[in-house]
Amino acid sequence: MDSVKENVIPTVIIRPVRSVPSELEQCKPLIRTLWLDQRFPQNFLDRVIKAGDTELYHVEEKYLKSPRNHWWVAQLNDNKIVGQVSLQPMSSGGGGDSTRFYKNIDPQDYCELRHLTVLPEYQRQQIGYRLLKASIEFARQNKYKALYVKTMLSMKRACEFYERCGFERAPQIERHELADTKKIKLFNNIDRLTEDDWNELKNLAETEVKHYYDQSYFMKL
Ligand SMILES: CC(C)(COP(=O)(O)OP(=O)(O)OC[C@H]1O[C@@H](n2cnc3c(N)ncnc32)[C@H](O)[C@@H]1OP(=O)(O)O)[C@@H](O)C(=O)NCCC(=O)NCCS
Repeated sequence: MDSVKENVIPTVIIRPVRSVPSELEQCKPLIRTLWLDQRFPQNFLDRVIKAGDTELYHVEEKYLKSPRNHWWVAQLNDNKIVGQVSLQPMSSGGGGDSTRFYKNIDPQDYCELRHLTVLPEYQRQQIGYRLLKASIEFARQNKYKALYVKTMLSMKRACEFYERCGFERAPQIERHELADTKKIKLFNNIDRLTEDDWNELKNLAETEVKHYYDQSYFMKL
């Protein structure tokens, strides 16, 4: 985290989201940005986008009024919202004892980073880094001891971002059926992916994708 150069853009502020329709409408394209480069079938995209929109409509009670939860946006001078991130206890997302990477840290002391997105035309300008920094500060103030984030292997920019910002990569990769969010396979090492798995990963753009692959990252706070 400290090694990422801090080239602060003065025109961007990071602040809590406001639960008002005009603002929530601006956050919706961010939810869609998450999936822009992903060649998943439309019915899968519809499902995940709907889930993201539903989270937004409950942002007040779920994130702003619940202790140890939060949702931030990155706003430009002209009020345009260009990025967002949220934070919740890891247990709210279903992460439990088996998820934790640091065995000496209690599952209750883990928080989960979610919905981190910066609009494509504003990426690589340290906005993601500043959103992450705000989340880390909040997490420390709220006595969390570890930060967890799950991303897809196909979200290459996210994987590079987390590694560059000092997260540790969990040794497992989870494979999920697209038709169902149920986890069906756990790989202990990337080298143990089957030939079919590799082909599917390499050809995400061309093939009809049947699975998605999750990679978890962790940071001690
Ligand atoms: C991941 C994401 C939020 C990063 O936001 P960002 O504002 O572009 O990131 P920053 O400019 O703060 O990057 C900080 C550092 O991360 C690394 N990084 C960011 N994007 C990268 C990329 N495309 N390739 C390699 N490294 C990258 C860089 O080292 C960068 O520092 P540098 O520019 O000084 O080298 C953004 O790429 C994004 O919204 N992606 C699509 C949505 C997504 O995948 N979200 C994560 C869901 S889990």
